[in-house]
Amino acid sequence: MEQYETWVDEVLVKIRNKMEWVSEKNKNKIPYRTDKNGDYDDRSDPSRKWNVDDGLNWWTNGFWAGILWLLYQDTGEERYARIARISEERMEKCFQDYYGLHHDVGFMFMPTAVADYRLTANPNSRKIAMHAANLLAGRFNPVGKFIRAWNDMKTDTRGWAIIDCMFNISLLYWASEESGDPRFRQVAMMHADTVKDNFIRPDGSVCHIVEFNPETGEKVCSFGGQGYEEGSSWTRGQGWAVYGFMISYLHTGKKEYLDTARRVADYCVAQVPSDGIIPVDFCQPPEPAYEDSCGACVIAGGLLELAKCLPEEESGVYKEAAIRILRAIAERRADFTTKCDAIVQNCSGAYHSPEHHTTMNYADYYFIEAIYKLKGIGRFMW
Ligand code: GLY
Repeated sequence: MEQYETWVDEVLVKIRNKMEWVSEKNKNKIPYRTDKNGDYDDRSDPSRKWNVDDGLNWWTNGFWAGILWLLYQDTGEERYARIARISEERMEKCFQDYYGLHHDVGFMFMPTAVADYRLTANPNSRKIAMHAANLLAGRFNPVGKFIRAWNDMKTDTRGWAIIDCMFNISLLYWASEESGDPRFRQVAMMHADTVKDNFIRPDGSVCHIVEFNPETGEKVCSFGGQGYEEGSSWTRGQGWAVYGFMISYLHTGKKEYLDTARRVADYCVAQVPSDGIIPVDFCQPPEPAYEDSCGACVIAGGLLELAKCLPEEESGVYKEAAIRILRAIAERRADFTTKCDAIVQNCSGAYHSPEHHTTMNYADYYFIEAIYKLKGIGRFMW
């Protein structure tokens, strides 16, 4: 760990160099993944036929602007703000297409509108973000005390809650802090308490999806979701949990959230292989050796936030694991060349999805964010 400062400085230079041309090349897109030529797609392309929730309303559409706001804070270059606002302005139209928006409005509007408002006080950004926060709060089930996941597309999800939402509720904490209205924070904390009591297993591993009876609030069952199977441990879900409970702790100071983040972190640290390469699920069979570099970066970000909140003698184990994961990405799973628009390689959406080892814009976001965390650059974005 002693030499990590030099290594971080080198990675930072590579990130700056790569994002300078990637941002210029893709400035009129909202990218998600790269194609076989290494070129980014565009989820805001009006000439393509999208479903209601995978075009402009696609849940990862905020991360491109999020990367640009990170670069803006680092370099002070206005061009990053200008490109980030292209996403934000297009995404304002999502509200007209109500059916495509769901629990993921936090992922969509924290790195776009909230970031813009926090960094530049843009009044229109505040309006967009408050609108999104009200939609998210409106998804709260007051009997079950959870925020409902997804909409009625094909499956009845009225009683579903998912671990990913621990990130989305950062939008509610922001809305209370900004408006002085405690309702948003109250909803966020009730949801976080429900997740703490129903998703986190005694060993610190985490369920992806829990179904509650939407009328009585009783827990019905859990699902494996994007992981290997029911009862297993989807690694990105572990990341959403450890980092997500840190978000709740940082906004509320409630010690149980710190303790919960630590419990999940202890499980993760015990599972991280010595080479730092993270599987899609900590409980998956050894073959096929599917990886998820995106889950890796989310876990690393959560471990770094946890380490910052602990006394030095207790934090080392978390920081060391985060650095091991990030070094594995930077040295073995990153593309800093001009052959591919994305940096982080070998991401997997879900264990049972037909495609593995693709790029995903949020892997780049969480990788870049974690490197900035190690340097102490920029404000907390969630
Ligand atoms: N929030 C969905 C995912 O992590 O893929």
